[in-house]
Amino acid sequence: MKAIRRTRISDLLKSTAYGTEVNVRGWVRTRRSSKQVAFVALNDGSTISNVQIVIDVEKFDEDMLKLLTTGACLSVNGMLVESIGGGQSVEIQATEIEVLGECDNTYPLQKKGQTMEYMRTVAHLRPRTNTFGAVFRIRHNMAYAIHKFFHDKGFYYFHTPIITASDCEGAGQMFQVTTMNLYDLKKDEEGCIKYDSDFFGKQASLTVSGQLEGELAATALGAIYTFGPTFRAENSNTPRHLAEFWMIEPEVAFNDITDNMDLAEEFIKYCVQWALDHCMEDITFLNNMIDKGLIERLRSIVDTEFVRLAYTDGIKILEEAVAAGHKFEFPVYWGVDLASEHERYLVEHHFKRPVILTDYPKEIKAFYMKQNEDGKTVRAMDVLFPKIGEIIGGSEREADYGKLLARIEELGIPMKDMWWYLDTRRYGSCPHSGFGLGFERLLLFVTGMANIRDVIPFPRTPNNAEF
Ligand code: 4AD
Ligand code: MG
Repeated sequence: MKAIRRTRISDLLKSTAYGTEVNVRGWVRTRRSSKQVAFVALNDGSTISNVQIVIDVEKFDEDMLKLLTTGACLSVNGMLVESIGGGQSVEIQATEIEVLGECDNTYPLQKKGQTMEYMRTVAHLRPRTNTFGAVFRIRHNMAYAIHKFFHDKGFYYFHTPIITASDCEGAGQMFQVTTMNLYDLKKDEEGCIKYDSDFFGKQASLTVSGQLEGELAATALGAIYTFGPTFRAENSNTPRHLAEFWMIEPEVAFNDITDNMDLAEEFIKYCVQWALDHCMEDITFLNNMIDKGLIERLRSIVDTEFVRLAYTDGIKILEEAVAAGHKFEFPVYWGVDLASEHERYLVEHHFKRPVILTDYPKEIKAFYMKQNEDGKTVRAMDVLFPKIGEIIGGSEREADYGKLLARIEELGIPMKDMWWYLDTRRYGSCPHSGFGLGFERLLLFVTGMANIRDVIPFPRTPNNAEF
């Protein structure tokens, strides 16, 4: 086969260099044939669009042509010509075809229109479909937009540890990390496991959040963000929870909760605008195939001011809804940790736009949040989104050493885990704030996909760690 430098299909489809010889490589999506010609739709992942390969059947070996099946990998040399049919602008008149990888009829992606549940059982191959190709290209673009947003604002990307000995959220949902022989655990007189001979010499886990170390960095570098995997062993089988997910956590010295809300709102709008500006081909596909309201919803977010509302006022609205006959599955009262149905009622029914809920009861929030004067609430802020519920959770942090220490003691958090964190409040403490955006929750919103398992390549959920 003649050596020609490969062109990506995304570049080829923009080209007008008709008559030049090109090489493309990719996987067969479909093939149609008549007596004289065969048409192969080839995709290389660079774009959702396929390039059409036109094959003059007489010029090729019959046995080779039989191998041009769905899923097969090909290298094709040919002439770039203007396409006469609708759809694409160009097509390739094949001169040479090499089958790089054959694909027989056991290929799991032969049939179109499979369910999402089925696609999860073939997660190793699903990136080759239109839908998942689109989702993962958007996922990349969102990651890039996030780094660009913070870099342009002068934030530093700070790497916090994945293995940790402290529980940031205090919810006790951590996966343990150990090299101990689980069949022969050493225990003390009280029956507690002895960790001194374990790899780290103490109990260690996978992090639920990089925030605590992020705060150390913010009180040195000024403004930082983390972007890494986080782990939660919560046994919730919902369309919005993963055991392993990616989180973006900015943390800024001298920001109060209002600055924090401004940053969160600007940040999300930037990401959504980026998707509209750079991923329109994939988003249009998802809008047509998955969620007809997607583009409209994305556009409406970037032009809308988010509602800012205190938790107490949110509860009042929900109680009024109950009084007026609205049925919730879970009860509503001051102090309750809002369920997704409550959050969505506020966002989708009542305000019809995103809501930032603030000043939650301290009992349902983490120990590090700044305590309000009322003694009951803390300066928390959750950003609630249509169809998603909570997309961001954050707060102004308690900067006062005495108050923070009192709360840590009140909750019985072991001091051996917290001494270094408390040092930020002992040595040059300052007001500061931050939040965490669940990357996959953002992707649910931007792609219109209904289940969080379908916006991460290899989902980790209870009873599932396949691939
Ligand atoms: O509200 P969370 O638990 O807040 C924190 O972890 C703070 N340390 C963040 C901070 O202030 N720096 O989690 C933050 C976000 C949630 O709003 C949600 O979007 C996402 O992380 N999230 C999950 N996403 C997928 N699966 C899960 N199990 C998630 N748990 C939280
Ligand atoms: Mg939260």
